[in-house]
Amino acid sequence: STFHIFQKPKYVTPENSDCFFQIKGVFTHQQSRVSLCIFLNPQVNLSTAPPEPVIPSKKPIKVELVGGKRYSWCTCGYSRKQPFCDGTHKTRAQGMKGLRFVPEKDSTVWLCGCKHTNNPPYCDGTHKQDFIVSAPLHEYTD
Ligand code: FES
Repeated sequence: STFHIFQKPKYVTPENSDCFFQIKGVFTHQQSRVSLCIFLNPQVNLSTAPPEPVIPSKKPIKVELVGGKRYSWCTCGYSRKQPFCDGTHKTRAQGMKGLRFVPEKDSTVWLCGCKHTNNPPYCDGTHKQDFIVSAPLHEYTD
């Protein structure tokens, strides 16, 4: 693969962290300290595999939903507010984000906890399959 180094300095913030490799504060450019940032050439696809979620629960989670309300179901598995998104994907699972949905009416539903359902955000029984049963459960650290 090839790397492309942009000549123009580009400001990188946590929200704008498409930086592949960053070297901070060790170079000078026109009397000021700069961060060097190496960006991948967008045409280079390092991996064709989609990011994989971790498994916070091997069972669905029963929730009472309010019709017309907006919800965001956690797709990455790292949220501590399962089965809903708490924004952790921004740091732990870049490229993934919560799945937004609005139920039509008040309802009690089983939302997927294993994150491998084929009918997100709802459980479709996939958690009973061996690849989930034998997979490690995500453990929260810190
Ligand atoms: S909990 Fe994911 S398919 Fe049932």
